This record gives sequence, structure tokens and C-alpha cells, in this order.
Amino acid sequence: MMRRLYPTSAVVSGTEALEAEYLHPAGRHVRANFVTSIDGMVEVGGRSSPLSGPADRDAFMAMRAVADVILVGAGTVREERYGPVLLEPAVEDRRRSRDQAPTPPLAIVSNRADLNPAARVFAGESKPLLLTTDEGVAAHPDLAGVAEVVVCGDQWVEIAVAVDALVDRGLTGVLCEGGPTLLRSLIGADLLDELCWTVAPRLVGTGHRGLLGDQVLPDPITLRLDRVYESDGALLTCYARGREP
Ligand SMILES: NC(=O)c1ccc[n+]([C@@H]2O[C@H](COP(=O)([O-])OP(=O)(O)OC[C@H]3O[C@@H](n4cnc5c(N)ncnc54)[C@H](OP(=O)(O)O)[C@@H]3O)[C@@H](O)[C@H]2O)c1
Repeated sequence: MMRRLYPTSAVVSGTEALEAEYLHPAGRHVRANFVTSIDGMVEVGGRSSPLSGPADRDAFMAMRAVADVILVGAGTVREERYGPVLLEPAVEDRRRSRDQAPTPPLAIVSNRADLNPAARVFAGESKPLLLTTDEGVAAHPDLAGVAEVVVCGDQWVEIAVAVDALVDRGLTGVLCEGGPTLLRSLIGADLLDELCWTVAPRLVGTGHRGLLGDQVLPDPITLRLDRVYESDGALLTCYARGREP
């Protein structure tokens, strides 16, 4: 059972009610979703699954259910061995009733485009978007057969160009599923609107990657606590990026 603790308290019961908690506002809205240990680490043995639990997985699926597109870094695709997005038929029906595609496409961000065309992530019914560079395309032309390739820079993906490419396709509700390098880059370009952060009730110590990887932020970023949920010892928070109107 999931309980909303803030801003108002309520029991959030059932899949549909949980999805309603995560509906994107109109217009471009970039949400990132992460789970960390209490000490801020995003992976154990290169995977996030040891940190996740039932509540985090439910929230993960609810965020997928309402997103127009799932944005993910190539490192996460490689390390987590990403597969195609699969949703329950009832979830797909609810998406259709909101004029969304039955499943959100994946959009993979990669400078080098060093991905195996035979990887699981390319085995779905629809092709993922690959947001990459001229150099990436030149080095891996075979990916054009398994992905919709969008060039967003010469050597480096310009993340603002990449997000604009999604918005131009009508994919305004963006769910970033990581990893830390991509999150850092969204924050650096001031593109992050909401950070949904689950604090798993675990301590894992050093030797793991943290929420923003090993990259420094020049200045602290202030976020506003928007919503808090609790389930079975896990704390699920949503922080909004406070922007000037
Ligand atoms: N706990 C969680 O919620 C969570 C969520 C996601 C990931 N993770 C963990 O994070 C780890 C991976 O960390 P990571 O920082 O390597 O992940 P990442 O951001 O997914 O991957 C980094 C790679 O993705 C590409 N990339 C990311 N941002 C880019 C940008 N702005 N422009 C161009 N390319 C970009 C680059 O790929 P190329 O090298 O191909 O150019 C880069 O080397 C994994 O162990 C995973 O389990 C945890």
C-alpha cells in the first residue's frame, strides 16, 4: 500500500490511482526517476535492481504508463541490458484514451552510438529513437536499421537539441530513467522539471556510482519538495524545479 504523506495525506490505492499521481502537466515537462540507497548510491554491482522494491517498481511503471517518451543514456542501456517497453493492456487502453501511443518509445542518448544492433533494446515492435552525433552515425551506420537515428551534434549530443527533437515529435512528457551522466547533463542545461527520487531503506557504502555520477555541479541547484509517498519503508519523493514564472 502506498500512502501520500505530502502535500496532503491519502492512501493511493491501485494502479490507476498511482498513475494519476504522475500525470505530466501540459507542455514540455522533463521528469527524471531514480532510486538510491540512503547514502545516495544508484547501483550495486552495476544494477539498480538491488535498490528497488515493490513500491519503487510500481512507481517506475506508473511513470512509464503516463510518459510520452522514455529518455535513457546508453550507459544505462548497456549496463542494465534494457529491453523494449512493455505495458499491460489496461495501461495501453488508458494511454489511448489520453491520445497517447499505446507504449512510449524509448529515446537512447549516446555520443558514440556504441550499441549492438542485436541488443534486446532493439527487439521490440517499434524502433527506439537514437539521439546521437554525426561521428556516432558514421561509426555505426548499421544502427539505422534498428533505430530512428536523430543527429543532435557533431561529436557530442547537445541535450537541448535532443529534447527539442522529442518535443517536435509531440513527445512533451519526457521520463528520464537515467543514468547519472544523463541526469547531470539535463540539469546542466536547465532542462529538468522534476526529480522523482526513491530512497530505498538500504545503506551500501562506497565504491558505487552516486546520483550525479562523479561530475561536479558548479553551483547548488535548489529544488522544491512537491510530493512525498511512503510504502513498506521506502520513501518516494518528487522534487520540482522551481522556475521563475
Ligand atoms: N538507481 C537508478 O535509478 C538508476 C537509473 C539509471 C541508471 N542507473 C545506474 O547508472 C549506471 C550507469 O551510469 P552512467 O552515468 O554511465 O549512465 P548513463 O547516463 O545512462 O550513460 C552514460 C553514457 O550515456 C551516453 N550519454 C549520457 N548522457 C549523455 C549526453 N548528455 N550526451 C551524450 N551521451 C550521453 C553516453 O554514451 P556513449 O558512451 O555511448 O557515448 C555516456 O557514456 C548503471 O550502473 C545503472 O545501473 C541507476
